[in-house]
Amino acid sequence: MNSKLTKFVDALPIPQTLKPTRPRHGKQGDFYRVQMEEFTQKMHKDLQPTKLWGYDGQFPGPLFDVNHGEPIQVEWVNNLPSKHFLPVDKTVHNLTELPEVRTVTHLHGSETKSASDGYPDAWFTKNYQEVGPHFKQKIYEYPNKQRATTLWYHDHAMGITRLNVYAGLVGMYIIRDRHEKRLNLPSGPYEIPLAITDRSFNDDGSLYYPPQPDDPADNIPNPSIRPFFLGETNVVNGKVWPYLDVEPRKYRFRLLNAANTRAYQLYLDSGQDFYQIGSDGGLLRRTLKMTKLAMESAERIDVIIDFSNLEGQTITLKNDLGANPDPEDETDDVMQFRVRSPLKDDDTKAIPQHLSSIPSLKQNNITKQRFLKLVGSTDELGRPLLLLDNKLWMDPVTETPALGSTEIWSFINVTAFTHPIHIHLIQFQVVNRQPFDLDLYNQDGSIVFTGPATPPEPNERVWKDTVAAHSGEITRVIAEFGPFTDDYVWHCHILEHEDHDMMRPMRVIDPKKNDN
Ligand code: C2O
Ligand code: CU
Ligand code: CU
Repeated sequence: MNSKLTKFVDALPIPQTLKPTRPRHGKQGDFYRVQMEEFTQKMHKDLQPTKLWGYDGQFPGPLFDVNHGEPIQVEWVNNLPSKHFLPVDKTVHNLTELPEVRTVTHLHGSETKSASDGYPDAWFTKNYQEVGPHFKQKIYEYPNKQRATTLWYHDHAMGITRLNVYAGLVGMYIIRDRHEKRLNLPSGPYEIPLAITDRSFNDDGSLYYPPQPDDPADNIPNPSIRPFFLGETNVVNGKVWPYLDVEPRKYRFRLLNAANTRAYQLYLDSGQDFYQIGSDGGLLRRTLKMTKLAMESAERIDVIIDFSNLEGQTITLKNDLGANPDPEDETDDVMQFRVRSPLKDDDTKAIPQHLSSIPSLKQNNITKQRFLKLVGSTDELGRPLLLLDNKLWMDPVTETPALGSTEIWSFINVTAFTHPIHIHLIQFQVVNRQPFDLDLYNQDGSIVFTGPATPPEPNERVWKDTVAAHSGEITRVIAEFGPFTDDYVWHCHILEHEDHDMMRPMRVIDPKKNDN
């Protein structure tokens, strides 16, 4: 595709913080109207402006910065053209009937009522001319009653999420609270969200996404569903391989892996450690020194990097591509930090060691264990699909936890690769992982463990909403389901998997009512 782009020539953009359209009135809280629009954005000095779809005409979208306990309302307005500019594949799950441009926004990691959750079938088109079967309301309500953390919002429309997100429909959302403020973490200009993703470009600057056959009868040798997408460049806050000038002091970076498929293994080429302070569901118990940060799609990691006494140095945030990387693959670089004097702020505060307390859910009364297989399959045309427990999205709901109950979900990954599994509504805890013999499974379907269960990584002993379920392992998570009932989803967060067909409904039922 495009001839090589020079690295580290564009300054890192900092997403703008969104101002309410109408300030708080009564219990409703601040009201925001956010438009999904088509626009062009210069993503690299040597690229023509790129056509994108984004919230308020920005990629990534504007930053929500809200306080714990202060609810807000958001009207997500679809102002997009009627035709997608990326290759839509209508051959999977009866999408021929659906409008090509449908959107619905999900606030990932949020504790929100079902009608505001962005259910995939709650999509709508421009001016609500057509709406999905689950569409309930135009204005979404976010209670912000959960812990302070970094959430993110993104499109979640049925069958087309990978394209809408790739087109640019993503943004970040911060919830703050008083406890966190008292920790004196780097703030203001020293606290920077980093939405990390990957994209490929055509020579004219347009986004490249692999075409898919509209008709399997097309003479395309392998008319298969593409089970993944890996871009040729890394993009941070909407720029390809940017750089950031930093002062010789500590900074807080809220990292988000917003890539469709790519998992990152981040490290600093200076050999220095990250100080991890937070994860999907907020602060850790204690600050952890981390040499490398593994991040699957949708995971968030909150870190402090200390640039003190490094004046004049240039530090690259790298992505470890593993043992034998393709020499053509340039995605081993992510972005660069250039440590420049002067220091504008004295930065004498030490990084706190104790951050927060997290109760263990294992003390709860566990009412159910679910065993859920992550499996490969084929559709009616013989093309590969990935499924959850051998069921399609359309199959009747089977995960129906009772409101307030605690369950253990065991993800049995019998495929050859890692799937980041995400559950809506709740934050869970990772119990453990246990390896089993994948060959034996492939012979006769038996699960034979090849080792003991191992505890989660130190930086996973926190609240999470997305977990890496590795091949040939059972990954067990525990969650208390609530505080709301009704329809949500759980799915693999590799968007090419989610769309084809690694997503399932989940219904939280109220055991006191029989109408479920
Ligand atoms: Cu970030 Cu259901 O998704
Ligand atoms: Cu989510
Ligand atoms: Cu997957």
